[in-house]
Amino acid sequence: MSCEPLLYSVRMRASTGRSHLSGAERLVPADRIDLTMKELVDRALSKQLAPDQIVVTIDALGDMPVHSVPSLDLISLDMHDIAACRENAARVLEASGVSSSAVLAAFRALEQGASPDGGNMRGAMIIDAETGERLEPDRSRGVRVSRFDWSEGASERIDRELSALGLTHFRTKEALALATKVAYAPGIVAELCWSDEPDYTAGYVADRTKGYVRFPHLKHAGNGFGGRAFFVTHGDLDRNVLMAYLQETPVLITEIGTCRAGDGLPGRSG
Ligand code: COA
Ligand code: AMP
Repeated sequence: MSCEPLLYSVRMRASTGRSHLSGAERLVPADRIDLTMKELVDRALSKQLAPDQIVVTIDALGDMPVHSVPSLDLISLDMHDIAACRENAARVLEASGVSSSAVLAAFRALEQGASPDGGNMRGAMIIDAETGERLEPDRSRGVRVSRFDWSEGASERIDRELSALGLTHFRTKEALALATKVAYAPGIVAELCWSDEPDYTAGYVADRTKGYVRFPHLKHAGNGFGGRAFFVTHGDLDRNVLMAYLQETPVLITEIGTCRAGDGLPGRSG
């Protein structure tokens, strides 16, 4: 019999009119639900635009097994222009096994608005790492990763490591957690992300061996296009298994990887 406390998924999404404003989620034991709800609602209210609606959903995980994983190693690169950041992001993706045409297809989609209506998607693209073909069943929605968090101890440790690198924005910690869950998904080759927040220019590429490689400028400030691309193995992908894992399997990060700053790509000297 397990002595682990039962965990609850606490999720917040805030919107104004038909536009999504912010969202965040945690996996917590019952005695932390109250505080977690307050933190998430405070987050929703901290945006410049006041939300019309804040939805908080709480679900017991019940007897669903919770996967424990270590967070990806993180390297934060010091690179000042977008062209260099994009070129190096493409190199890391290609070294992970993504073809150059698939990288190009993802960059183009993220630049132009990956949804068929020309806007941002509500989730991530799934892209064949060899052909660049889009595989998500709904190109406006994509797939949204959910049910993941840091354990209390890992959360404190990663806060210290990220602060030491000057990465104090909550986005970095949450994106690292999301990328970690994605990196352990069946059929995943690598991930590419840059935010759709106009003022947040940083993004990353990630896979299990190279870790989370953060680039400070993957787009120009003021540009409101962004999104995520999950590159997947060619041919033998079970899309339903992948989507079920990403959306539903609870993943708790209980150990942290290494975190460092650098001016060269992982695995290269200089
Ligand atoms: N963009 C646009 N719309 C969104 C959205 C997003 N990112 N997230 C939710 N919505 C809207 C959509 O209309 C969605 O309907 P759809 O499934 O047809 O797209 C609706 O809200 C319900 O979404 P759902 O995911 O079922 O809500 P939820 O309350 O269970 O979870 C989130 C909402 C935002 C917490 C969850 O989807 C999520 O993204 N979790 C990860 C958050 C995180 O840590 N992100 C890291 C970013 S650095
Ligand atoms: P953000 O990191 O919140 O700025 O989100 C950047 C983009 O990632 C969004 O425009 C969506 O396309 C996508 N996205 C948002 N939430 C998720 C999620 N939970 N899983 C996968 N993709 C997401």
